[in-house]
Amino acid sequence: MKYVIITGASKGLGESVARLFLQEKVRVIGISRTKNVDLENISQALGVEYTHYPCDLASLEALEDTCDKIKTHVFNKNTEKVYLINNAATVNPIDVSKRHSREAIERHVSLNITAPMFTTSRLLHDAEKFSTPVVVANISSGAADRSTYGWSLYGASKAAINRYTKTVALEVDELKEPHKVIIFDPSIMDTAMQQTIRQASEDQFKEVDTFIGFKDKDALRHPALVGRVLVDLLLADDRLVNGQYYRIHDYV
Ligand SMILES: NC(=O)c1ccc[n+]([C@@H]2O[C@H](COP(=O)([O-])OP(=O)(O)OC[C@H]3O[C@@H](n4cnc5c(N)ncnc54)[C@H](OP(=O)(O)O)[C@@H]3O)[C@@H](O)[C@H]2O)c1
Repeated sequence: MKYVIITGASKGLGESVARLFLQEKVRVIGISRTKNVDLENISQALGVEYTHYPCDLASLEALEDTCDKIKTHVFNKNTEKVYLINNAATVNPIDVSKRHSREAIERHVSLNITAPMFTTSRLLHDAEKFSTPVVVANISSGAADRSTYGWSLYGASKAAINRYTKTVALEVDELKEPHKVIIFDPSIMDTAMQQTIRQASEDQFKEVDTFIGFKDKDALRHPALVGRVLVDLLLADDRLVNGQYYRIHDYV
């Protein structure tokens, strides 16, 4: 039995990846605040397990409780492999840093940094009992490597995830563990996150017209196309390079 745990499986890239894993007969565990009825219907039609754990990932207390439940659900002597895709994230607040509220900073850091660090840590820890191999994909963004006016928190949180992932991968290598931990950069996709970006004012986000142009010129990739590349990479995990930064640009 193989499982994939996907944060933010209700919409966008996470939904596409969940759908594709179900088609590959991999059991899917989705973590998000809202449920996705389509995924439940697909799971029933295909006879492959899909379980939704409702959770606000910005609450570490709620996430810890969810991880406890998932540990019991997923790990047993019949589990061959567990994938974790840390996909849920927010681009908000989009604004100059001097206008960020305490609450907005706290929510952003909790969702984009603390949650993926905690799920990764818990999964590596919980996998030890049955010596289950684990593959973790942390979803990043090109925003990690360039300064974007109005995206200081988003760029910083993705940069943090990149360094975290590479460091965990180094530890896995040094400890000679069977796990793989990678970064996946999906680039711009036609999802709700892009709608949010297009709604910013120029005062908040200097490049808003460029992003409106991406949509008008049909330059945003469909999340199903991006999801297919990620799922294919993960299913061929014997060829995955631990600690590597994988970019959609190199595939489609
Ligand atoms: N879209 C792009 O152009 C783009 C570009 C580069 C990188 N990325 C990265 O790709 C990943 C997926 O992005 P996307 O565009 O698919 O995003 P999206 O369409 O906005 O979907 C975000 C997902 O995360 C979940 N989520 C958000 N806040 C949450 C919370 N507090 N607790 C639990 N779940 C939460 C949402 O579910 P609920 O609302 O149901 O909770 C939803 O399923 C992100 O890591 C993003 O940074 C996206």
